[in-house]
Amino acid sequence: MSSIARTNATGEHGMLPELIAWSSSLSLDRALAREDLLGSAAHVTMLARTGLVATDDALALRGAILEMFDAAEAGTLKLDDGEEDIHMAVEAELARRLGAVSGRLHTARSRNDQVALDLRLHVRDQASVTLAELADLVGKLADRAAKEKDVVLPAYTHRQRAQPISAAFLICAWGAQLVRAGEVVAFALGRADELALGSGACSGSSLPIDRPLVAKLLGFPRVTANALDTVGDRDFALDWTWAASRVLLSLGKLSADLVDYSTAEFGLVKLDGRIAAGSSMMPQKKNPDIFELLRGKTARGIGNVVALLTLVKGLPSGYNRDQQEDRQTLLETGPLVRGALRAVDLSLPAVTFDGVRGEASLAEGFTQATDLAEALVRRGIPFREAYKAVGALVRTAVEANVALSGVPLATRLALHASLDDAALASLDPRAAVAAKESVGGTGPKSVDVQIAALHAASRELAARARKTPTLSALAKALSTELLEPR
Ligand code: ARG
Repeated sequence: MSSIARTNATGEHGMLPELIAWSSSLSLDRALAREDLLGSAAHVTMLARTGLVATDDALALRGAILEMFDAAEAGTLKLDDGEEDIHMAVEAELARRLGAVSGRLHTARSRNDQVALDLRLHVRDQASVTLAELADLVGKLADRAAKEKDVVLPAYTHRQRAQPISAAFLICAWGAQLVRAGEVVAFALGRADELALGSGACSGSSLPIDRPLVAKLLGFPRVTANALDTVGDRDFALDWTWAASRVLLSLGKLSADLVDYSTAEFGLVKLDGRIAAGSSMMPQKKNPDIFELLRGKTARGIGNVVALLTLVKGLPSGYNRDQQEDRQTLLETGPLVRGALRAVDLSLPAVTFDGVRGEASLAEGFTQATDLAEALVRRGIPFREAYKAVGALVRTAVEANVALSGVPLATRLALHASLDDAALASLDPRAAVAAKESVGGTGPKSVDVQIAALHAASRELAARARKTPTLSALAKALSTELLEPR
């Protein structure tokens, strides 16, 4: 608790040590050390270029800051406990290393705009890495779909067998949802991609600072527009947790499908031992724990959105210390969503579709009833009439306990003159899949278009991710920036 009084400029009382400890965010903030140091390196570069800090002082400051950055990256940075947050802890360490000159770093800066900067750097970095990993998974789903075009299985509505589809089409459905989630991640990345530093405590600075220069040094395409808004703004954090939840929801649906499909009742996929968990009691068990956990982790993602919404609701303008409670939620989000993406990436190769079982579950023809009705429509029969005729055929087959095609010709023709043998060709599940070539349908040409679209989306999302410079690349570039006044 060496520097308790440092935020107490009036020299009256320092806060009670126990309350400092209780209110400190340092233990969580340590994860933001690189972001904080990077911001300081850019800030001091700007202070030198604008003549607010002498070149020699800036050189010493930036050298020490970047040394600490390297240590943070290597996991060897030591920062004393007992500070209120990462910003004070870094300043205390700089004071220890450099002495009085460290007192120049905080010129035209507040912890309010520092934390606003650090969190944006963090979200931008995490969102770009997440986006790259998501784009990779979308590409892999497209590749996998291309390999599963011949497998047919039922699609479900209301969790009842509905219509035949290809496994490729199912995988494309997972991919489509994941791409939408990726677009939300890209949006969140864009929202965080603004320079907050230079807002000061709440109203800017009277000193001749150069915010566009700091933005350029940190790879931000723009600076925030209003200092008061900036220090109180956690919208970018909300957008990020929402985006992460969208990714988790999408992986959760894929998981819910696989949990069901791997049961003996569905039997549509097999999970090999690399991803299946056993039971401590039942020797026969092969459980889909990974996919259950993927569904379960979505709850944490959604909880984080709600926590942040609740935190910012009702806050007045400007910085409020409540905002520090964003930390756990925000820091947890990147690892949570990236862990889930990785788990799916590792698991999918160990999932095999059971095409024989898939076809068997379509064999009675009931899931092709709509295809039969559509065959009648092709002959000019109004859909409602065809629907009723096939409905009557379904009832007859169910009552006789036979497949649709098992109803004798004479009985069929008595139900409707068009229910002849030629019409029954549409009951073949493969023919039914092959015929659905409407845009977005399960037909093979339509699925090829969907696969190509997933590849294109994967490339686009990856390109968006690559536009964000890494924290270490930014630090490296800063080390050679001029420190002379212009
Ligand atoms: N620890 C604070 C946070 O993380 C930093 C800003 C604190 N500002 C202040 N005036 N106490 O939100």
